[in-house]
Amino acid sequence: MGVSGKKILIAVSGGIAAYKIHFLIRGFVKKGAEVQVIMTPDAEHFVTKLSLSTLSKKPVYTDFYSDNGTWNSHVEMALWADVMIVAPCTANTLAKMVHGMCDNLVIATYMSAKCPVFIAPAMDLDMYQHPSTKQNLKLAEDYGHFIIPAESGELASGLIGQGRMAEPETIAKAVEDFFNSGHTNKSLEGKTVLITAGPTYEAIDPVRFIGNHSSGKMGFSLAEEASGRGAKVILISGPSSQVINDKNVELHRVTSAKEMLAKVFEFYENADIAIASAAVADYAPKEVAKEKIKKNDDSLTIELIKNPDILKTMGEKKSHQFLVGFALETQNEEENAKGKLEKKNLDMIVLNSLRDEGAGFKNDTNKIKIFTRTEKKEFALKSKDDVAKDILNFVENQLLK
Ligand SMILES: Cc1cc2nc3c(=O)[nH]c(=O)nc-3n(C[C@H](O)[C@H](O)[C@H](O)COP(=O)(O)O)c2cc1C
Repeated sequence: MGVSGKKILIAVSGGIAAYKIHFLIRGFVKKGAEVQVIMTPDAEHFVTKLSLSTLSKKPVYTDFYSDNGTWNSHVEMALWADVMIVAPCTANTLAKMVHGMCDNLVIATYMSAKCPVFIAPAMDLDMYQHPSTKQNLKLAEDYGHFIIPAESGELASGLIGQGRMAEPETIAKAVEDFFNSGHTNKSLEGKTVLITAGPTYEAIDPVRFIGNHSSGKMGFSLAEEASGRGAKVILISGPSSQVINDKNVELHRVTSAKEMLAKVFEFYENADIAIASAAVADYAPKEVAKEKIKKNDDSLTIELIKNPDILKTMGEKKSHQFLVGFALETQNEEENAKGKLEKKNLDMIVLNSLRDEGAGFKNDTNKIKIFTRTEKKEFALKSKDDVAKDILNFVENQLLK
């Protein structure tokens, strides 16, 4: 399946990341998609129509009106598209989109579109953090659009932080996943599945935190698979660059363990299945410094205090939920995992060992063992998408017992 034969409308706005769009267009065209590019007038300062039209093999439009007295139909382009991608999406274009300020071809086309809309924001550090941007992204999400979050790293301004447009491969994957998500097995229809994913970040001061290497991939794969089986999915993720493009998945992004705990218990009561795959920090700094801690002394001591144990609390408050925990161990793996199953009142635990090559945090693959109080099953090294299938098959079999 993928994007072959699909009609993809790409709207480019005036951000420095516009230079990356060439790679996105080229990738889609190579895979057999039809690509139509439109631009805001400001985007023309950053990339040329000529390069974009050469790669997309179609004229690129910026204005409502053509030189020959005709008009470029935003309505036709909007209805033609199977999917619309706004990338890079500037703060300005985002604001106009969510508030209906229809003063250019891109916004008019967006407002006429009936297809799914993907938004890849790209901004400088402070613009991305600005409350208006956050609010506008939230509004766009509420409208049902798919946000492909900006990534962290060095920004064109020289500042370091979140704001870089997601890489073209990430945007392409989000769109391909969307076209591929035509599942048929609706074995979890009517069920609500609550999933936690990713790391948590515990602030030390306004710029530093204690975190871990969890990518969130396992939890996102589980969410996609559960949704594909017809479940309503509540996905609560710590900071992660993973994206999900599935209307049945309600994604809540949090930062710290405390925030994750609060969010989990907003939804736990109504969950039928709860899967805690997040790597929650066990400890957090006792005090968060208000200002950036200066490099004055030769050593620095930060007092840490225990974070709330989210999984344990879920176990204590369990009424009807089927509760699944994860254990990532480096030694005495099975013993520790079984101990956790008992202590935290879980129904099932998924063990992955950092001693197994290809398993654990950052990899796209995982190698797991599943334990219940009476059963043990070992699985081969597989992609995290396939591991998600194994886990949900196991859960479903337990529910049938
Ligand atoms: C060199 C340069 C880089 C810029 N990069 C961004 C950017 O990454 N994101 C953003 O929101 N605005 C950026 N801007 C500001 C936008 O170009 C400006 O807000 C413009 O009005 C956006 O218009 P548009 O959304 O219609 O394309 C940049 C401006 C300049 C001069």
